[in-house]
Amino acid sequence: MDRIRIIGGNELKGIIPISGAKNAALPLMIASLLTSDTLTLENVPHLADVEQLIRILGNHGVDISVNGRRERQGEGYSRTVHFTCRTIVDTTAPYELVSKMRASFWVIGPLLAREGHARVSLPGGCAIGTRPVDLFIEGLTALGASMEIDGGYINATAPKGGLIGARYTFPKVSVGATHVMLMAAALARGTTVIGNAAREPEVVDLADCLNAMGAKISGAGTSTITIEGVTSLSGARHRVLPDRIETGTYAMAVAMTGGDVTLEGTRADLLETALEAIRRSGADVTSTATGIRVVRNGGSIKPVDVVTDPFPGFPTDLQAQFMALMTRSTGVSHITETIFENRFMHVQELARLGAKISLSGQTAKIEGVERLRGAPVMATDLRASVSLVIAGLAAEGETMVNRVYHLDRGFERLEEKLTRCGAVVERVSD
Ligand code: EPZ
Repeated sequence: MDRIRIIGGNELKGIIPISGAKNAALPLMIASLLTSDTLTLENVPHLADVEQLIRILGNHGVDISVNGRRERQGEGYSRTVHFTCRTIVDTTAPYELVSKMRASFWVIGPLLAREGHARVSLPGGCAIGTRPVDLFIEGLTALGASMEIDGGYINATAPKGGLIGARYTFPKVSVGATHVMLMAAALARGTTVIGNAAREPEVVDLADCLNAMGAKISGAGTSTITIEGVTSLSGARHRVLPDRIETGTYAMAVAMTGGDVTLEGTRADLLETALEAIRRSGADVTSTATGIRVVRNGGSIKPVDVVTDPFPGFPTDLQAQFMALMTRSTGVSHITETIFENRFMHVQELARLGAKISLSGQTAKIEGVERLRGAPVMATDLRASVSLVIAGLAAEGETMVNRVYHLDRGFERLEEKLTRCGAVVERVSD
């Protein structure tokens, strides 16, 4: 199993190209199930989760071709992928596939909208919390579907003539359930109005792509989204938006190690709250013509409190990385996690590097220390793993991050991007 070996202590200097967003690419790929025409996605990141979803979509009948030519984009690369689902050959999403990646549950929306029925395995719990599916069930029921749980599966059936537009307000903000409602309502009869919708940029990206395919969606990016159903959708060409979590991760790495890095091909408006927290910690963060520049020269890291919240709040997917940064602050900071109930697995591992963190309920208290020292570490989810990489870059000596497959799920060419900026990072295969 691969590991990542880091020798800490170097500042980061240079350019890091930001990839297409994993969490935008996944729902966009699933949207290809809604049309028999070809959906072409540009800037698709090369990640384990994307490859896994390609396999899952293949099972439903999506024909996928990846452009052999790699498109040069600044210093980095992106891929253009064509998805064509002439006919849906299977409306069942089996346990073996859904259990590997929660987002694959989202196929329930397009399968139900296009075929009138779907049988999709319940995703089950996962490392960061229980993550139920009640909001999906309520939302699709509001569109007229009957939703039955049977043997670990949800059997979803649309009324004769298809789903029916409705007003539905989520009791809680959910990114995935908002994606699914957009896809299902796009082909419903009549108008759907979703209240308390997720406002994440990835929701806006999906709505933009669906509109390019002929959907009539307005209000994405606000809490109220209106969808006028259409009878069919066509193909389209769409570019996946830049990864705001990758952006924030590298910005926090620079804020921690010191240095001067331009994050290329990304946009500050995708993560203003997180960038503001980084600024308050003492780094300079500015927008440039090509992306975002992060500089910290010499000054100390100041303690900053953050609370995770749905967009535009501080993202839960950057909580672990910000905690890594705070371990070296000159005071005491508090980080409160409000989205997932069990997203503090990195705390124990950061402690192995010398961090002083105590937990009380959903709040972590971080007492900054003068130095971290390298150690073998391991984490059980993607963002927790990368927080250990960040800490390792700033620690003295060698840090070995085990279970690298978590990183490969969400960070494209991580070691190459960091090495080019002067870090000592290498992948070790046993
Ligand atoms: C998306 O997950 C992201 N995944 C997550 O990123 C991200 O952490 C999360 O949104 C929050 O921003 C993808 O986009 C692929 P939610 P999602 O539904 O849609 C509860 C990463 O590291 N909930 O917005 O699954 C849920 O338990 C991943 O890239 C219900 O109670 O998250 C959580 O507490 C991890 N009932 C809250 O809502 C439901 O039916 C928000 O979850 C659905 C969700």
